[in-house]
Formats: sequence, C-alpha cells, structure tokens
Amino acid sequence: MSSTSIALSDREFAQFRQLLYNITGISLSDAKKPLVAGRLGKRLYAYELDSYSEYLRHISQSPAELQTCVDLLTTNETYFFREPKHFDFLRERLSQPGLIPSGRPLRIWSGACSSGEEPYSIALLLADVLGDRPWEILASDISQRVLERARTGVYRLEDSQDIPRQMRISHCFRGVDGNAGNMLICPTIRRRIRFEQINLNNALPETGQFDVIFLRNVMIYFNSETKRHVVKRLLSRLRPGGYFLISHSESLNGIDDTLNIVKPSIYRKPDA
Ligand SMILES: C[S@@+](CC[C@H](N)C(=O)[O-])C[C@H]1O[C@@H](n2cnc3c(N)ncnc32)[C@H](O)[C@@H]1O
Repeated sequence: MSSTSIALSDREFAQFRQLLYNITGISLSDAKKPLVAGRLGKRLYAYELDSYSEYLRHISQSPAELQTCVDLLTTNETYFFREPKHFDFLRERLSQPGLIPSGRPLRIWSGACSSGEEPYSIALLLADVLGDRPWEILASDISQRVLERARTGVYRLEDSQDIPRQMRISHCFRGVDGNAGNMLICPTIRRRIRFEQINLNNALPETGQFDVIFLRNVMIYFNSETKRHVVKRLLSRLRPGGYFLISHSESLNGIDDTLNIVKPSIYRKPDA
C-alpha cells in the first residue's frame, strides 16, 4: 500500500506529538500534522504497515526505530557561517585578552549542531585565528542521522560557498573521482571536534566547562518551560565570563535573568 494513501488520524498525531515532546522537548503545533504524516509515511511503507497506530506499536518495541522516528521529526536546516555576526564577534573576542585561557585549550560547545556546518564554521575560524594554539569543540545533537553525516566532514561544493575563500583553500579538500562535486574538511580540523549524541531535554552527561556555548535555532521548537530547563542546564557548563550565543530569531526574555547581554543574541555569564 502506498504511504500517501494512509491517513494520520488526529488521535495518532496527538500520540506522536506527545512522544516527541516527552523525548526531545519539541512542541509541534496542529499545523505540523501533514509534516508528521509525510515524514513518517515512508516508514510505514518500508515496514509494510497499514496504519500509523501499527507504527506507534512498532517504535514502542524498537529503540532503533524510535531513534529513526525522532531523526525524521527533527528539523535540521543549517548552513556554514549562518548568522555571520556571531563569527565576527568570536573573531573580535579572540583577538583581545580575556577569552583565550592560559594553561588549557579553549573549549566551545555547539549544542544543537545538526549536520556539522555550525561546529565546522567555528573550527575553521579557530584554526584561522589561533593557528597552533590549543582548542577543542564539542558538537552535539539528538539526531543520530545528522551526527553520522557531520562526522564524515563531506559536503557538497555548492553548500560550501559561505565558507570564506581563504579558509576553504587552507582547510578543505576538493573531492575528486567518486567525490567530485564534494569538499572534505581536512582531518586536522575534524580531529579537534568531538561529535556526541546529547539530548538537551535530559540531564547532561559529564562535559566539563566551556568558554563559549552556541545554542542556535533549536529553542524555537521548545515551549517556555523547556527553554528554561535547557538554558539552565547549559549555563551550568559555561565558565564565569564565558559567552552564550543564541539565534537572532530567539530570545532569553523570561527564560534567564542571570546573563549580561553584550549584543543582540550574545550573552556573557558574569565573572565569579
Ligand atoms: C535547525 S537545527 C539548528 C542547527 C544549527 N545550530 C544552526 O543554527 O544552524 C536544530 C537542531 O536541533 C536538534 N535538536 C532538537 N531537539 C533537540 C534536543 N532535545 N537535544 C539536542 N538537539 C536537539 C535537531 O536535531 C536539529 O539538528
């Protein structure tokens, strides 16, 4: 049976919505019903199921398929050097005293890294500005599918146009033969990024403290209560004096009152 001929009932949609909220904290509006039907329809087709209720039963018994379901219902849009003002800000701060620690690597966390364009953009900038000085990046997301993609460091050439030319020349390889049309982030950069599955809606694993945390374009999917919990968890991992960057389309109004605003969407944790 074709997946498009199977209707998603309001009750089934409510069950998927609750499931996604419980796991990820993502709140889906009623308008997202066609999106849920469209994205999960292909799984019904793959398993030759006749209804979304059967698929719900299936994922309740299969952690791997539950992960696939979560992967399909998250929105992973991203691109290199998205919101360039954040990268201008980072470059500026790196050239001044205060941000670069002495005696340990600079540590940056990309907290909803999707397919890797955000952490690689940060990494390319750090490689450019810091040269051989030590730095490391933790890049995390809830979706296994995007993390697998991110770890490869392979992107379509046409998607790499927002990477400044000099950085592309210095730190990226142009694919040849089977990889023609692609570019590869060089291994020396890739090695400094640890990709890890972390659900921001749960208690965080041990990560240590960070000098800068990027949490961009993910809070838009959360309600206020989830935002408050997520921001609080992440701020517990930001060192005093460190920076917290959110998207220009997001706000911390009513979510946190402990940070000092530096510029729109850029916050600093007060010194201890
Ligand atoms: C739109 S992308 C943003 C990517 C990147 N930060 C940017 O600004 O381009 C949102 C990402 O948040 C992830 N996400 C959603 N809920 C999450 C959660 N509870 N924990 C961790 N990541 C989550 C999604 O899987 C998705 O990859």
